[in-house]
Amino acid sequence: MANKHLENGVIKSKPKSWSKTEVEALLEQKKNGLSFFEISKLLIRTEESCKRKFYKNQKKVDKYNNSHRELKYNHNKHFIQQIDAKTILDAYSGGVSWYKINTNLEVVDNDIKIDGADYKLSAEDFLYKFKDKKIDIVDLDPFGSAFECFDLALQIAQKGLIITFGEIVSRRFNRMDFVEYRYGIKTIEDFTTKKLSAYIESRGLIFRKKMIPIIKAEMTNISRIYYKIDHFDYGNSGCKYFPKIEKPNLFNQGI
Ligand SMILES: C[S@@+](CC[C@H](N)C(=O)[O-])C[C@H]1O[C@@H](n2cnc3c(N)ncnc32)[C@H](O)[C@@H]1O
Repeated sequence: MANKHLENGVIKSKPKSWSKTEVEALLEQKKNGLSFFEISKLLIRTEESCKRKFYKNQKKVDKYNNSHRELKYNHNKHFIQQIDAKTILDAYSGGVSWYKINTNLEVVDNDIKIDGADYKLSAEDFLYKFKDKKIDIVDLDPFGSAFECFDLALQIAQKGLIITFGEIVSRRFNRMDFVEYRYGIKTIEDFTTKKLSAYIESRGLIFRKKMIPIIKAEMTNISRIYYKIDHFDYGNSGCKYFPKIEKPNLFNQGI
């Protein structure tokens, strides 16, 4: 492929192309806090080349995130139309919640890092404050996993629950350690959005809530599921949803 900088005399030789492993190492080491100079020594490249590659990649990520964001907000709108909700807790709001600006819902928002929300707590501590309240919708939209918030959210949410599963990204790196113990996922084939969702659906029964996924958005590194909540009151066993186990009649068997 032609290189514009080479043709225009900006650079003297064609740059060595980057392999996938090198790009991954660059991103990983940047995340670990290494400087471009330190990374350039590890990858045997110039500091300038590492910087250029990193920021080019960043642009791609931003573009990708923006398209994700648009899709997410569209789904949010459709979900709210389908759920007759008045109140929402936005536990990972990213500053002032999108719901505050774009809906008529009564919103309480929270973000541990970004200013502008009502609370600046960990999502778990934020939800704990509302554990005895009934709120129509809870939105869990972390970058990674919101696992530690699931039970509180299931307890609080009355009409809808929205969960972004950032866990999905580790499927790309064949990493099962994280999901194996939490979700009982043992093979990479088993590592699906459906399986993650099955955990929420079964966990919901403990709170006497039937979690019905009505919108599923599966993207490259995340999945986001919008659950409508049906309540049932059939005792603690949730017998409407579990098959009834017939007890053997020991007397009839002559025992
Ligand atoms: C994917 S962004 C949220 C985007 C936002 N919901 C939106 O639609 O624009 C995740 C947010 O969670 C925040 N965050 C990260 N860890 C958190 C935690 N443990 N508790 C609460 N917020 C957290 C980050 O600061 C970030 O703003």
